Amino acid sequence: MCGIIGYIGKQKAASILIEGLKRLEYRGYDSAGLSVISREFGVETIKAVGKVANLENKINGRDIGGTAGIAHTRWATHGKPCDQNSHPHTDCRKNIFLVHNGIIENYQELKDNLVKKGHKFSSETDTEIIAHLIEEFNKKTDFKSSVLKTLKIIKGTYGLAIINKKEPDKIIVARLGSPLILGIGREEFIVASDIAAIIRHTNKVIFLEDGEMAVITPENCEIFNAKNKSINKGATELDWSLEKAEKQGFAHFMLKEIFEQPTSISDAVRGRLVVKDGLAKLGGLKDMAEKLRNIKRIVIVSCGTSYHAGLVGEYMLEEYAGLPVEVEYASEFRYRKILLNKNTAIIAISQSGETADTLAAIREGKNKGALTLGIVNTVGSTIARETDAGVYNHAGPEIGVASTKAFTSQLAIFVLLTLFLGRQRDMSLITGKRIAAEMNKIPRLIEKILKQAKAIKKITRKYTRYQNILYLGRKYNFPIALEGALKIKEISYIHAEGYPSGEMKHGPIALIDGNFPSIIIVPSDSVYEKNLSGIQELKARGGKIIAIATKGDKKIKKLTDEVIYIPKTLEMLTPLLSVVPLQLLAYYMGIQRGLDVDKPRNLAKSVTVE
Ligand code: M6R
Repeated sequence: MCGIIGYIGKQKAASILIEGLKRLEYRGYDSAGLSVISREFGVETIKAVGKVANLENKINGRDIGGTAGIAHTRWATHGKPCDQNSHPHTDCRKNIFLVHNGIIENYQELKDNLVKKGHKFSSETDTEIIAHLIEEFNKKTDFKSSVLKTLKIIKGTYGLAIINKKEPDKIIVARLGSPLILGIGREEFIVASDIAAIIRHTNKVIFLEDGEMAVITPENCEIFNAKNKSINKGATELDWSLEKAEKQGFAHFMLKEIFEQPTSISDAVRGRLVVKDGLAKLGGLKDMAEKLRNIKRIVIVSCGTSYHAGLVGEYMLEEYAGLPVEVEYASEFRYRKILLNKNTAIIAISQSGETADTLAAIREGKNKGALTLGIVNTVGSTIARETDAGVYNHAGPEIGVASTKAFTSQLAIFVLLTLFLGRQRDMSLITGKRIAAEMNKIPRLIEKILKQAKAIKKITRKYTRYQNILYLGRKYNFPIALEGALKIKEISYIHAEGYPSGEMKHGPIALIDGNFPSIIIVPSDSVYEKNLSGIQELKARGGKIIAIATKGDKKIKKLTDEVIYIPKTLEMLTPLLSVVPLQLLAYYMGIQRGLDVDKPRNLAKSVTVE
């Protein structure tokens, strides 16, 4: 959570920092702030509660001198959103200024010691102690050594960018457990929590690893490892474009990303599906092929929407690859005593590749000798780097806080993985070919669903007033019921519950009356008839019903209040289609309720705290 950015070069820093903050804002929007430094004017700090736009309004076009600076957009952990708790934080003498993403766990004990030494604190944050510790060490040693000494005694996680009024031509950055990427421009460097804030300036980046620190001047950047040894790190050339990170005429990133799904799914499978051989070629798993042949069990770890993708993957892998699969919330994984060994593969799914719980789960799995694989969207992210092997989603940057295109690309990767592992085992050529051929058609089928956006918007209008919705699905579409419910909660703040259709009669049905509508995913698949019984039970209680059904199903029209049709496909692929109307429903519901769908309250895109 939180986004940090630093700039040093020849251009005016303030506008570059603000523009970068806007791209990082999905990481948190409780407050924003910046500090710009110059030899002539010293340090100027400006902060504003709320979104980056408030900070921009406060600056009001004023020309701020200084070609170096740091900035932050906050997702509050310690202390309420207010000016005092906003970053950058500073020391008693106002020499050291810094921005921080992460949590300092031993801050209280360190703060008590500093207070005894006479330090005066002005915020409730854990971060402020870092500035005071550097100040304390800086009395006896230089800036860089003071930072090093500070990093040795703080416990927790950090992505840090620090400036010092006494050394205005320098930014020091450091990382432990929170992402930090260094962009290399022409006579300028830009460092940020996320590529999205860098890509406008350069596509040449260095991914800092845990324990690394960099001292950056306009001319040079020196990187040090955890032992304070200067190291040479190669730069990576990214193929993400600025255009991919912008709205391109859509009202919101979420809508743009929903509409991008035909492309993002094509990108996920491009060059990987071999229809004629019923196979999936996965470059990232090539060297692991033999190990994967011997895998006897899979444990999937992930959070939120990525967890729901894992549940769909479980059905696919069990049915077609013949492997036992368990799906765990990453945040619960460490509390389980799950049997892991070299015949177990742990698959971590993460859009951001930085989710702290998921990262902790794969570290735990590695310790226990399991093979770790990643299904990750963000290239070069920590999870992508720390897993033994993996498959990138290639969905491009996802900016809307609610995950949409990353989810369907995760499902597409599970289809590929099912083919890869299934064909290593008992899956026949014919079955492989059928799945591959149908998968290739999915992007076109999604286009057909997207054409119904207006009709879906119209349906939404009738349901905006309800405070509760029940989402139901069975087999492959049970996880989609969970995902539909999560989307509507996140985006429209409507209370929703996702349930397996068959479980409804075991409790939730007690909630149903004329004021509690249900959305049921009922494609013409192997559990269709069973779902129909569920619909009858809902109707008998006077509940309104929206059905997501397969085109051509006339029966369903008579039984439900509204029907949104999806095209016919293989049963295992239906989740790739059925989730799309649910994404649109959540989007339009949020819009009709006048909410900020790209930045729902209390959420952040990348959850880097445990
Ligand atoms: O980046 P990740 O996929 O690891 O993120 C996991 C969840 O935090 C994420 O899916 C979250 O639930 C989204 N807001 C869902 O829309």
